[in-house]
Amino acid sequence: MTNQAGRPGATPGAAGSAVDAPHAEDVTEDVTELAAEVRDLARERNAVILAHHYQRPEVQDVADYVGDSLGLARRAAASGAPVIVFCGVHFMAETAAILCPEATVILPDLEAGCSLAASVDGAAVRAWKAEHPDAVVVSYVNTSAEVKAESDYCCTSSNARAVIEAIPPDREILFLPDLFLGLWLERVTGRRLHLWPGECHVHAGIRPEDVDRVTRSEPDAALLVHPECGCTSQALAFANERTHVLSTQGMIEFARRTGARRLHVATEVGILYGLRRAAPGTEFVPIRDDAVCGYMKRITLPKVRDALRAGGPVVRVAPDVAARARRAIERMVAIGG
Ligand code: 13P
Ligand code: SF4
Repeated sequence: MTNQAGRPGATPGAAGSAVDAPHAEDVTEDVTELAAEVRDLARERNAVILAHHYQRPEVQDVADYVGDSLGLARRAAASGAPVIVFCGVHFMAETAAILCPEATVILPDLEAGCSLAASVDGAAVRAWKAEHPDAVVVSYVNTSAEVKAESDYCCTSSNARAVIEAIPPDREILFLPDLFLGLWLERVTGRRLHLWPGECHVHAGIRPEDVDRVTRSEPDAALLVHPECGCTSQALAFANERTHVLSTQGMIEFARRTGARRLHVATEVGILYGLRRAAPGTEFVPIRDDAVCGYMKRITLPKVRDALRAGGPVVRVAPDVAARARRAIERMVAIGG
């Protein structure tokens, strides 16, 4: 593993802290009325509403589809809808805009960013590539379109392992920007990767000691871990058949089929709503109940309603950047997961 810590252009979020993230905003309007209005507007505008698993419950409830990054990209590509309202963060809406150049992709709040995506930009990737001219560049989907345009492959937490395994074993790989996901990939694939030192401020804050504190009292319960977590690589060190490293959609599917009495969950707490719906008989215990992504929570029902009324804000990607990014994204959509 080559840790590129300190590399110019890398500005990882503060591990263990969500203080830099924008705060979730309270919604005072009547949710039932708002939800009905949103559904009516979506019908009138011929819009499909896509939502990520970390979205507020009332936003998930108005969506046509709720999923992880891979599922959302695939659903956007297959929707054929002229308007896509993306209830997630900016890089997800950009990915949809690249896959669906004919559609109008709306992000109800353009400030819905991502600390992980912000940890690397196109210039930094170009400089890194210049140091490793023969390497294959694999970017996690949590990156800007500009970074994807510099990449050979894109991947998500659902198919990162399959993407690495699809690359011939003798090829050098630059993996960015999530350090924890990269460390986990090194373990499960047995490959050596060059790793960018980026992190998500929410998941980096979920530390091995947090896992230890919760699981010690209940060692028999299974643990669901998102690979972005600060505990991921260490979690594998004490991994057993009860530790499952999964994407958000993978967690929902695991919960649906397991029938367990209690499950421990290491990721952003927005997932708990979907987990409880998927498996009402299971009790879900978050490893950290303060693991909240303020960016995801910027999308509120009033903003979804206002965006549908106004037909914006629209996320656009420059055609030349989109054309270069599309190849890596299409490989991601096609591989595994
Ligand atoms: P998933 O693709 O697993 O939903 O993860 C997206 C994300 O942003 C996690 O922080
Ligand atoms: Fe980005 Fe982290 Fe929020 Fe996911 S949880 S959108 S990686 S800041």
